[in-house]
Amino acid sequence: AQTERELLYKIHEVANTFFQEILWENEEGKAIGLSYFKERELHDDIIKKFQLGYSPEQKDAFTKYALEKGYEKEILEKSGISIFPENTPTGVDRFRERVIFPIHSFSGRVLGFGARILKSNVKTAKYLNSPETEIYHKSNVLYGLNQSKQAITKENLCLLVEGYMDVISLHQSGIENVVASSGTALTTEQIKLIKRLTENVTILFDGDAAGIKASFRSIDMLLAEGMNIRVALFPDGDDPDSFARKHPRDFVENFIKTEAKDFIDFKAEILLKEAQNDPIKKAEAIRDIVKSIGFVSNALKQEIFIKEISTNFELSEQSLFNELGVQKQIVQ
Ligand code: UTP
Ligand code: MN
Ligand code: MN
Ligand code: MN
Ligand code: MN
Repeated sequence: AQTERELLYKIHEVANTFFQEILWENEEGKAIGLSYFKERELHDDIIKKFQLGYSPEQKDAFTKYALEKGYEKEILEKSGISIFPENTPTGVDRFRERVIFPIHSFSGRVLGFGARILKSNVKTAKYLNSPETEIYHKSNVLYGLNQSKQAITKENLCLLVEGYMDVISLHQSGIENVVASSGTALTTEQIKLIKRLTENVTILFDGDAAGIKASFRSIDMLLAEGMNIRVALFPDGDDPDSFARKHPRDFVENFIKTEAKDFIDFKAEILLKEAQNDPIKKAEAIRDIVKSIGFVSNALKQEIFIKEISTNFELSEQSLFNELGVQKQIVQ
């Protein structure tokens, strides 16, 4: 007999095929879904590579199809793709009138979906994602890992971006060593997935306040796992997707190479700009950087980082090591 997990994988495969068929063959799918991807300048081959799809306006298009195929209400509900509100006999689709981004496991099985609204609408979340299920745990998954794993190994570097479209656009411009944490704060499990392929990560988050905040948090998480990190910030208002569509591949690659700073320089640049010439704020900025060094477990690396700050800011190593001692007590 099929286990429940196997059945959930199967339903996701069926849904993934369904959403793609709608996108390519159904009138609504072509007129709305495919047009949307074309507006975002995605080519057919890349739409197919990422198995993008479309879920129509009809409230039960997939649920009805799956029930007719013999899948039971219970398992459809557990998959998160269908919802059966109380006291209603028939179920409805979770994702309606949205373009679909299937989320794959490391080995390429579909675990869940992200679904983007077509028009900007303040009342509704831009992306709806699958809920946690028996096969989908969002903190254990990195979007794009299946499509990017070979390039990550080859380049010995993983680019880390925020969103689905960032991964896809970079692939389209030929930069294929990229994954997204997809709206969740980067987790230890996600970092361990990267670490199987490389210890080198370049963070490429959106050039807005939220992106900076997320990059600070990710730096500490990555340092704690012993990763080598660099960070490049896009111009405010740009994300990797918009940037990759504005500029040719060589320019993007060169931008990433030249903009990427080590985490000390990156944090220093942002925090010291905020501090202006206020000595109290400056001290806070240094403490914040030392706090990140507190996450580094390797003592030799810590010493090298402390020496870097000591040189850059003309501070004694002794006072920096003292501060590190204080911070480590807080971290532990
Ligand atoms: P962004 O807000 O940066 O969106 O969220 P984006 O990827 O640039 O979206 P586009 O370009 O307008 O299509 C980054 C990521 O955070 C998750 C998604 O994974 C998204 O790609 N997110 C965002 C959600 O899960 N839900 C949301 O409502 C918004
Ligand atoms: Mn973002
Ligand atoms: Mn953003
Ligand atoms: Mn974005
Ligand atoms: Mn975007």
